[in-house]
Amino acid sequence: MKRTEIDKLLKQEAIGAQVKVNGWVRTFRNDRFIALNDGSTIKNLQVVVSPDSLSEDLLKAITTGSAIEVIGEVVASQGSGQKVELQARSVEVLGKAHPDEFPLQPKRHSLEFLREKAHLRMRTSTFSAVFRIRHAASYAIHKFFHDEGFFMMHSPIITGSDAEGAGEMFRVTHLDLNDLPMGEDGKVDDSQDFFGKVTNLTVSGQLEAELGALALGKVYTFGPTFRAENSNTSRHLAEFWMIEPEVAFADLNDDMDLAEKMLRTVIGFVKDHCADDLAFLDEREKEEDKNKPLAERHEIGLLERLDSVISTSYERITYTEAIDILRNSNPFKKKKFKYPVEWGTDLQSEHERYLVEKHFKKPVILTDYPAKIKAFYMRLNDDGKTVAAMDILFPGIGELVGGSQREERYEVLMERCKDFDIPEEHVWWYLETRKFGTCKHAGFGLGFERLVMFITGMSNVRDVIPFPRTPLNASF
Ligand code: 4AD
Ligand code: MG
Repeated sequence: MKRTEIDKLLKQEAIGAQVKVNGWVRTFRNDRFIALNDGSTIKNLQVVVSPDSLSEDLLKAITTGSAIEVIGEVVASQGSGQKVELQARSVEVLGKAHPDEFPLQPKRHSLEFLREKAHLRMRTSTFSAVFRIRHAASYAIHKFFHDEGFFMMHSPIITGSDAEGAGEMFRVTHLDLNDLPMGEDGKVDDSQDFFGKVTNLTVSGQLEAELGALALGKVYTFGPTFRAENSNTSRHLAEFWMIEPEVAFADLNDDMDLAEKMLRTVIGFVKDHCADDLAFLDEREKEEDKNKPLAERHEIGLLERLDSVISTSYERITYTEAIDILRNSNPFKKKKFKYPVEWGTDLQSEHERYLVEKHFKKPVILTDYPAKIKAFYMRLNDDGKTVAAMDILFPGIGELVGGSQREERYEVLMERCKDFDIPEEHVWWYLETRKFGTCKHAGFGLGFERLVMFITGMSNVRDVIPFPRTPLNASF
């Protein structure tokens, strides 16, 4: 007999059917009721066993966490909460989980505790919900771009260029660090390294995506990116996944339109396809909020938050306008902001949150940042001091998307490389596209984990990626 997945079994409600199910025991009550979960759905299947039919040893082995196989008949459920249940004919324990050692007990564990048990935490309702949603969001992104006529492009993970110029890269080498080849200048001879030069893990696939867009028209990348930022925040990972679309013959407005449409479509898709998981997380958040001081509780529930970003259009303002709003704000006047608000400095998370959560109460797209605080590839505006950049700020998240129209003018780009001390030999291929059939083009980067945070309501980025990589943490 082939196994039936619990999701299917609960949806089909095929009373009278003989089925085989597999899964992990969540709870076993009164030697009679097993709550069984196989990961296909947040819902558990109630399995009813008659204690007399099972040996004493078998009854003892059916413990929380053990893997079992049950053959039985689908019957209408007597209890509330489910329409059907499984009347067991036979139960086999496939893999025991010793109750004294298995760390996940049928009670609420803290997220911090579960982070230490990342090898098992996907067996909890919360994390299985998060990772099913993560899957749906990933699928929805591919579907969105495919439907819009984009081509997926695999950009390289090992690279010799620093796209963002932030110098936060992880070196890739095959040299023996305890026996490095030295050059005559007393420095490591990089020419003896695997690629004959210094290489790193990529911080962005954008530069390569631009090459793709200038041939295929519309491309996107969806891959892992790496940043050796030593920032231990709830929104930063050393390894995260980024989606980077790039469009030829498009300007900054087209770029913002695309980003808004993508976010609306993807979040809408997840809402439609993960209703059970979202309902669970919504309920969980409401429970958690009860234990929090009023000021820290969510003003509106998870599902409403998703609806609000699907249905409203996002506020578009320039960086300069944002500075004005902030300098006229109450927290600024009352000196409540920790960081200064001055034209030319980057906005801090407290400023972004004020704009999004207090002032506009909806997602905000900030445009036209000072050239000095943004990357070399962004198109210089006519004022000579700002660039055609855009950041999308989301409630509770801050920066979700960063994008720009690209500098397509060869001479201007050469100047920008000089300003940023970017050696021509690192980016000669990028510069050449500005000599051969250059055209306006634009793109953006969406931090996938930050999107999953928003959709699931999880407040720490470490809880939306299966095995987070952060400073001093690369277990599992
Ligand atoms: O703003 P960023 O640095 O932009 C780029 O990398 C551009 N090359 C994108 C482009 O135009 N193609 O990063 C883009 C997004 C951020 O808005 C944020 O959501 C996410 O990536 N991000 C991170 N997410 C998790 N951990 C980190 N350390 C992140 N750094 C950036
Ligand atoms: Mg950014």
